[in-house]
Amino acid sequence: MKILITGASSGIGEELARVYASPQNKLILLARREERLKNLADELIPHAKSVEIIVADVTLFDELQEKIKLIGPVDMVILNAGISIGHSQSITPFKEFKKLYDVNLLSNHAILEILLPHFIAQKSGKIVFISSLASLISMPSAKAYSSSKRALNAYAEGIRYKFKNRGIKVVTILPGFIKSELTDKNSFHMPFLLSTEQGAQKIKHAIDKEKRFYAFPLRFYLIISLLNLLPQFLRDKIVNFIN
Ligand SMILES: NC(=O)c1ccc[n+]([C@@H]2O[C@H](COP(=O)([O-])OP(=O)(O)OC[C@H]3O[C@@H](n4cnc5c(N)ncnc54)[C@H](OP(=O)(O)O)[C@@H]3O)[C@@H](O)[C@H]2O)c1
Repeated sequence: MKILITGASSGIGEELARVYASPQNKLILLARREERLKNLADELIPHAKSVEIIVADVTLFDELQEKIKLIGPVDMVILNAGISIGHSQSITPFKEFKKLYDVNLLSNHAILEILLPHFIAQKSGKIVFISSLASLISMPSAKAYSSSKRALNAYAEGIRYKFKNRGIKVVTILPGFIKSELTDKNSFHMPFLLSTEQGAQKIKHAIDKEKRFYAFPLRFYLIISLLNLLPQFLRDKIVNFIN
């Protein structure tokens, strides 16, 4: 399998690269930090069929698309690159808000605009979106992140409906807290925090099973789902209390 993983230089993406490094798989690892990608490629070359790195900023859409064109068809893309701007009670500066949307949402369409015609032609392919449990509930302190991931869910759902009869599988993953550079910035208690290895294994399991929508850890997902079933006034009280 030829697999493109974005955001492969750290955290979940880096660990997914390890999990998919096997003699059958050709890995293409994309991120901005070249040194990190090179070190990871050196580590994985003995285990994988091949490892290629692409140094790219996913917000530089034209350059990104040129680089994706050079890859040609792939069997699976894991759209994992993502950022958070932390939790803040102040108004998010517009530039930061836009950057977050560029990375977490728009870069995915920039990539898929190039890859989808290949998937359609080969009548197969997997598209994996790494969303977040944060997409299911908007914390006042992380509106940009939550809303970008909720928009990503809607986008992923549209892609899934549109291509469901054309051999293209779409998997949307909603992780809770997983240890990474992104969560290392959080100073609050993170319930049900998983190690990066645990997170990557769960994500691989969901991809292998071709789950359309996979939210984990289950207990955290159930709590958020229950909260969403409450009447709005009660939910507002609880969210404000947590915030
Ligand atoms: N950790 C969690 O608890 C958690 C929970 C739910 C969802 N997620 C999602 O999981 C994904 C991975 O996050 P993580 O926790 O593993 O965080 P991370 O360790 O900070 O990894 C983020 C990755 O995205 C890449 N990236 C960021 N901006 C980029 C840009 N402009 N161009 C190219 N690559 C860029 C980073 O690479 P470079 O800096 O080298 O470019 C890095 O490889 C994200 O989509 C995140 O929203 C994480």
